[in-house]
Amino acid sequence: MKYAIITGASKGLGEAITKRLIQEQIAVVSVSRTENEEIKRLAIESGIEYNHFSCNLSLEKEVQEVFMDIAHYIFQKDPKEILLFNNAGVIEPIQTIGNLDQTPVIRNIQVNLIAPILITNLFLSKAQLTNTKVTVINVSSGAAVRSFEGWSIYCSSKAGLNMFTETAAIEQTELKTNNKIIAFSPGVMDTKMQETIRSSTKEAFKDLEQFKEYKEKNMLLQADVVANALVDLILSGNVESGKVYNIKELLK
Ligand SMILES: NC(=O)c1ccc[n+]([C@@H]2O[C@H](COP(=O)([O-])OP(=O)(O)OC[C@H]3O[C@@H](n4cnc5c(N)ncnc54)[C@H](OP(=O)(O)O)[C@@H]3O)[C@@H](O)[C@H]2O)c1
Repeated sequence: MKYAIITGASKGLGEAITKRLIQEQIAVVSVSRTENEEIKRLAIESGIEYNHFSCNLSLEKEVQEVFMDIAHYIFQKDPKEILLFNNAGVIEPIQTIGNLDQTPVIRNIQVNLIAPILITNLFLSKAQLTNTKVTVINVSSGAAVRSFEGWSIYCSSKAGLNMFTETAAIEQTELKTNNKIIAFSPGVMDTKMQETIRSSTKEAFKDLEQFKEYKEKNMLLQADVVANALVDLILSGNVESGKVYNIKELLK
């Protein structure tokens, strides 16, 4: 049996990925602070094994405890393959350097970078012991490779995630495992994260008007279109480990 773990499954891209995986009859473990009742209902109607684990990914101890429980639950089922989508992310703080508050800085790096590192480490460690194939998908951003004034923390955490992905992939190749790890840049999508961006100020975020225009001119990608392209790639089996995929190349 194939199992998928999706962080941030309650909303946006994570919700769309989870719905598509349910359609594909893949057992899903959703992780977020809130549970999406529609996903729960869909899974039950489709007869899919579904579990939700509530976890605040900004709290290191909670990440360790909840993911030990998830690993225990999945590995005891002797899975054929595990798909781990490190998708949850936060954009805040949107603020220029010199005006940053400490708490949102730390929270951003915990959710966007430290949690994916700890979770990947745990699953690759368990995979070694059980010979299970693990495919890790780290959801990154164009902001990992392009700086935006006001997004220094988001840009830095996503750049760190890309580098972690590349390093893990090299190590896994060296170890001759079947495990694969990629990063994925989903493009600008019509989700709650974009609402947060549009509600910031011009003083804190220089490109505010441009992002408002993306919405007004209907230029935002729909999360289900992005999720389908990503899941098609993963299920094709033709994943190049270590690569940072961009939605543009998948939608060609
Ligand atoms: N939207 C875009 O334009 C865009 C562009 C480039 C990259 N991305 C990336 O795509 C991914 C998905 O973004 P999205 O637009 O779908 O965001 P979203 O609509 O804001 O959803 C974020 C998800 O992350 C979860 N989350 C946030 N903080 C969490 C925490 N402390 N603990 C546990 N879960 C937490 C939320 O669940 P709960 O609130 O239920 O906990 C929610 O399910 C992110 O990694 C983001 O950086 C998005």
